Amino acid sequence: MWSEGLTVDLVLKDAKVFTPNGIFEAGLAIDGDRIVKVAREANLPPASERMSLDGNLLLPGLVDIHVHLRGQGLSYKEDFYTGTAAAAAGGVTTVADMPNNMPVTMSVETVKERMKAAEGDVVVNVAFYSAFPEKIEEAASIILEGGAVAFKLFMSKKVGGVDPKDSQLLSKAFKEAASLQVPVAVHAEDPNLLEERRAEALRSGKSDVEAYLEVHSPSVEEAAIERAVKLAEEAEARIHICHLSSSRGVRAVSAAKRRGLPVSCEVTPHHLLLTVEDLKSIGAAALVNPPLRSRRDVDSLWRALQAGFIDVFASDHAPHRLEEKSLPIWEAETGIPGLETMLPLLLTQVDRGLLTLGTLVRMASERPAEVLGLEGRGRIVEGGYADLVVVDLSERFRIEPSTFHSKAKYSPFRGWVVKGKPVKTFVNGRLVMDGGEIVAEPGDGRVLRRRRET
Ligand code: DOR
Ligand code: ZN
Ligand code: ZN
Repeated sequence: MWSEGLTVDLVLKDAKVFTPNGIFEAGLAIDGDRIVKVAREANLPPASERMSLDGNLLLPGLVDIHVHLRGQGLSYKEDFYTGTAAAAAGGVTTVADMPNNMPVTMSVETVKERMKAAEGDVVVNVAFYSAFPEKIEEAASIILEGGAVAFKLFMSKKVGGVDPKDSQLLSKAFKEAASLQVPVAVHAEDPNLLEERRAEALRSGKSDVEAYLEVHSPSVEEAAIERAVKLAEEAEARIHICHLSSSRGVRAVSAAKRRGLPVSCEVTPHHLLLTVEDLKSIGAAALVNPPLRSRRDVDSLWRALQAGFIDVFASDHAPHRLEEKSLPIWEAETGIPGLETMLPLLLTQVDRGLLTLGTLVRMASERPAEVLGLEGRGRIVEGGYADLVVVDLSERFRIEPSTFHSKAKYSPFRGWVVKGKPVKTFVNGRLVMDGGEIVAEPGDGRVLRRRRET
């Protein structure tokens, strides 16, 4: 433990440091994995290494609570190293991994196996979601013994042990989550509506984008949110609505929030910055669920964001092979790799005056850490973990997916010119990305387990 007067491991100097109390021309002293001092250079302790940040902005590393890292049986799409290297390159220092894996994360054993597979490979911190198990009594051990930080519920189709059509089972599952005091992250698309509409589209032989959008319409999102809110309210569970995409969805979440229910929500850069017109012109690389929406929907996401209704920015990084996404629409894989573009895209919105830097940091670092209870992460404070990103606000560059660290080398943002680049990333006090290069050793990131109540 460091104390005043002793030498620290690392001093970062010549920075504009973003702290909860404002931005200061200052530096940081880091010892081990912690920030031990935020002060003007003259007041920083002696250090084994001093590094100048050239006057750049120092932000808390991003905490992305919606990421599909794949690995294990899906390593051909992404693995723990490539996925976390993509995170480090994008200034993301902690990710929370979704359970739709091979095997599905849905038991103590599968959580532990996944952690074991990740441990030596990750270059940023990783926390794990689990799906609900078939025997709901086993939910407790997934959290308490396995160390998963939350549950994820796909309402669109059965992933894990609970059929989302079965309200009674869902209600039990929500009660378990409530008693364990962990949130349930929800992919909100109603399973019955999806099934009916899909069958109808198939019957009439439709396979165009319009038919696809009709199946995955905003009313399907709205119905699922309303049902999730109702079940969660009865169970007194905390829910987090993933990737809010439509005006109807915003309305449903706002209504729940106005009633004081413990509901949080997230929005992705792709739903904020692209519309259905982009899906039509770009095709496979822009195919995602929920799908890209109309200009009207996008406008209402921005209004909700500006009114403070949206808690979190998340990437929903969901890598696939492009060939899998280019299949006929009912068989095509959906998902967009977002880890390497999220921060530059959001900084560009700050530059355009559509977002303040304070809102960016609150929604991309602070709030997500709070939502998942990741203590000591998401803020630059003395005593907190040294998870940091240095950004050069003046650097303009073009998004070029062939340079991604992710195995998914495509993006609907290909060719976009963005302003604001992550130039260094630190995880647990160690430099893991420098000038776009990964300089970490695999294993420099950590598996974050749910803190045990003693
Ligand atoms: O587009 C999506 N991709 N939506 C999901 O719900 C799953 C995700 C994935 O895992 O590929
Ligand atoms: Zn989803
Ligand atoms: Zn997802």
